[in-house]
Amino acid sequence: MTRDKATRAIHGRKDNLYRGANFPIYTSTTFAVEKSDDYDKFIGDEEEFYIYSRYSNPTVRNVEEKIAALENAEDAIVFSSGMAAITSAVLAFAKKGDTIVALRRLYGMAYRFLRDILPGLGVNVEFVDETDLYRAHKNFSNVRLYYFETPINPTTDCISIEKTVHSARKAGALTIMDNTFASPVNQNPLDLGVDVVVHSATKYIGGHSDIMAGAVASSRKLTKAVRDMLKAFGGCINPSDAYMLDRSLKTLAVRVEQQNRSAQRIAQFFLRQKKVLDVCYPGLPSSKSYKVAKKQMTGFGGMLCIELDSLASAKKFCDSLELGLNATSLGGVETLVSIPVLTSHIKMSPEELKSANVTEGMVRISIGLENTDDLILDFKNALGKI
Ligand SMILES: Cc1ncc(COP(=O)(O)O)c(C=O)c1O
Repeated sequence: MTRDKATRAIHGRKDNLYRGANFPIYTSTTFAVEKSDDYDKFIGDEEEFYIYSRYSNPTVRNVEEKIAALENAEDAIVFSSGMAAITSAVLAFAKKGDTIVALRRLYGMAYRFLRDILPGLGVNVEFVDETDLYRAHKNFSNVRLYYFETPINPTTDCISIEKTVHSARKAGALTIMDNTFASPVNQNPLDLGVDVVVHSATKYIGGHSDIMAGAVASSRKLTKAVRDMLKAFGGCINPSDAYMLDRSLKTLAVRVEQQNRSAQRIAQFFLRQKKVLDVCYPGLPSSKSYKVAKKQMTGFGGMLCIELDSLASAKKFCDSLELGLNATSLGGVETLVSIPVLTSHIKMSPEELKSANVTEGMVRISIGLENTDDLILDFKNALGKI
C-alpha cells in the first residue's frame, strides 16, 4: 500500500535502540568497522555501511529516504544547499564537448552557473525560451541534458513538463528539473518523465528560514553518479541540519496546503487592486499558466508575483509592509517579499531581464503561514502608501 505524502514525511527510520519518536542525530564524522575486512562493503557501495559522513550518514540517510518517497523516486541525496545539489547533478552528467539546452528563465544563480562556469569546462550551453525548449531536439545536436524549472522564478510562469520531456527523449538527453517552487507536495516531475529532480531544500522543505539544504531525487542508477559528485565536491549537509530538515518534513504537507490556500486568496485580492498592473499566479484562471499548471500540479503553490508601475513603487510597497519581510528567499513560515532586479536577478543586462520577463516594478511574494486576512490588510496598507 502506498501511503499519503503527509504520512511518508512523518514516518521514516525508527530509533530501534530506545524507541524514541524521533530518529536521532548521528554527529559522528567517522564510523568504526568491526573488522578490517568490512571495508569490502564500502568498496561494494553497500548502502547501510557508514564509514565517513561526507559520503553518507544515518541521520542524513533518513531524510534522503523521506525525500525520495515524497518525490516518488528510487533514491535521493541531500546536500548543504540547493546550489550544491544543482551543480553536483549537472556535473554528474555533463562532460566536455556535451551540449546542455537550458531554459533561459531560471533561478539567477543556476543561470549564472550555466552561463559563466560550464563553458570554461568545455560544456556548450544553449539558452532557449520555452517554445524552443519543446523543439530543441530539432535544433541542436549532441545534447546531453535539458535543464529547466517550473514554476519559474520569479514570475511563477509554468512550462509544460510533458513537452520538455518529449523533446529531451527525442534528443536522447536527460532532463534535470528544479522543483523548488512547487515542493514535492504540489508537483512530482519524475511521475511525468523527468529524470532528475533538484530542490533548494532551504525553501519549502526546510520551511522556517533556518536551514540551508538541497536535494536531488532520481533513479538509483542516476543518483549513484550524483553521489560521486557529493563525495568529490564535498557538498554534504551537517547531520544537525539534516535532523532539522527531518523535523521540517513532518509538517511539509500541512504548511504547503495552507500556503496554497492563502496564496490563492491573496492573488485574487491583488487582481482587484488598481495599483497592481499584473498578478502572476498559476492558480488564477486568467493566468496564461493556469492550463498547464492544472495539468501537472496538484496545488498551485505559495509563490506569486505582482507588477507595480516602477522600481520606486516596488521599493515603497516592500518598505511599507509590517508583516511581510523584505528579504530574499522563499518557502518559509513568514511571508517574504523581494524585488527580483535587486536580488535574484541582480547584475543582469536589460536584454537578459527582458527575456526573463522580469521588470523593475516586479515584486515576488512568498506567502507564509500568517493569517490570510492579516496579510491582505498588510498588503492593502502598503499599496496605499505608494
Ligand atoms: C528556484 C531555486 N532553485 C535553487 C536555489 C538555490 O538554492 P540555495 O540557496 O539553497 O543554494 C534557489 C535559491 O533561491 C531557488 O530559488
